[in-house]
Amino acid sequence: MNSERTRVLTGITTTGTPHLGNYVGAIRPTVQASRNPATEGFYFLADYHALIKCDDPARIQRSTLEIAASWIASGLDPEVVTFYRQSDIPEIAELTWFLTCVIGKGVLNRAHAYKAAVDKNHAAQQDTDTDVTAGLFMYPVLMGADILMFKAHQVPVGRDQIQHIEMARDMAASFNHLYGEHFVLPQAVVEENVALLPGLDGRKMSKSYDNTIALFAPSAQIRKQINAIVTDSRAPGEPKDTQGSALFQIYQAFASAEETAQLAKAYADGIAWGDAKQVVFERVDREIAPMRATYEDLMAHPDKVESILLAGAEKARPKSAAFMAQLRSAVGLRSVSQTVGTATAKIAKTVTANFKQYREKDGQFYFKLVDAQNQVLLQSHGFTSPREAGQAIAQLLEQPLAALKELALQLETSAIVTTQELVETLNLLHETSKK
Ligand code: TRP
Repeated sequence: MNSERTRVLTGITTTGTPHLGNYVGAIRPTVQASRNPATEGFYFLADYHALIKCDDPARIQRSTLEIAASWIASGLDPEVVTFYRQSDIPEIAELTWFLTCVIGKGVLNRAHAYKAAVDKNHAAQQDTDTDVTAGLFMYPVLMGADILMFKAHQVPVGRDQIQHIEMARDMAASFNHLYGEHFVLPQAVVEENVALLPGLDGRKMSKSYDNTIALFAPSAQIRKQINAIVTDSRAPGEPKDTQGSALFQIYQAFASAEETAQLAKAYADGIAWGDAKQVVFERVDREIAPMRATYEDLMAHPDKVESILLAGAEKARPKSAAFMAQLRSAVGLRSVSQTVGTATAKIAKTVTANFKQYREKDGQFYFKLVDAQNQVLLQSHGFTSPREAGQAIAQLLEQPLAALKELALQLETSAIVTTQELVETLNLLHETSKK
């Protein structure tokens, strides 16, 4: 069932063209992870974020197309995951405002990206906020809205983004404290053993060093670029060092352990750099070429990509729209004719629900879940031992939805609550019982 899977969410800013470093470090491992049936994937193109860094409309549009096509060509299955464009979810912008109102300005002052900009200004003896947009300052709040909107449990990110996830937790906790338990507190997941790819000059492959190899460049261009990777000046026949060889590291990121060992041996045996480059090119191209065909097809038919993204938004929006309606009501943006306190009453009810265990005259052991007004939400049938009754309660707390199904024959559900409300109540109870 959907709600039991771990929800994994991550965003990709749409400002560039994916390169081999992005592929090895992010796209490939994420696509791999997206196939895990125990998780539910939410992957999106962070085009609102792109506006912070880029004021070239054509580039934003182009990059959105290229990145979407790259992820799909690399095997992300939009049927299995929810793959969408951030700006197709207008509730994100609204949630950003709600979160803006609960996060301390001082917390944002400490965000790395903003602080770096400020430090740079100070070093140049400029005013603190010279050339700093409020967008840059608000970056972590927008990111928090992305994550909290879809109740993500895990957010795979690079090290530099951990602070943003912590801020998202902060915003979620503040909001929950003020308005009731609406948000899931997300966790950053940093993949430790993902290959860091060197670029043409041996430094980390990065757009800012201008040393990248575009992921889906034509094969002839990739060959040319691999030929341009720096090596030392050792002649053919001289043994070569794998240590510190950018060429070798790139090979390693694509090859099997066995293939890598073979190239290491060839290095020791004095393979000519030109021949080594040929081996590396062929290995990289072998992985990329089949995906390149899909990529080129998608780039030639942007309408296909557009309809995939719109289908993704269609999957995501019922969730974001329903959740936003709940949040609006929770903060008091609701019909003035709505009975006062409905939302708060509901929260009070859920927070104070409790299990009661007891023994009946028939000698059997029972339990019921009651709300603050002692109304019965859930009533069990008789169990032969208190242990069995206790186990059923534990099961309901651990895995509400699954337990409600599995124990259906031993339980009566009250008509005053929906299954959804029961699940939320049980989750909440479980959360608070852990504190
Ligand atoms: N800030 C992220 C990056 O630069 C991109 C991003 C935007 C993101 N929203 C997100 C990542 C939400 C994870 C979750 O890499």
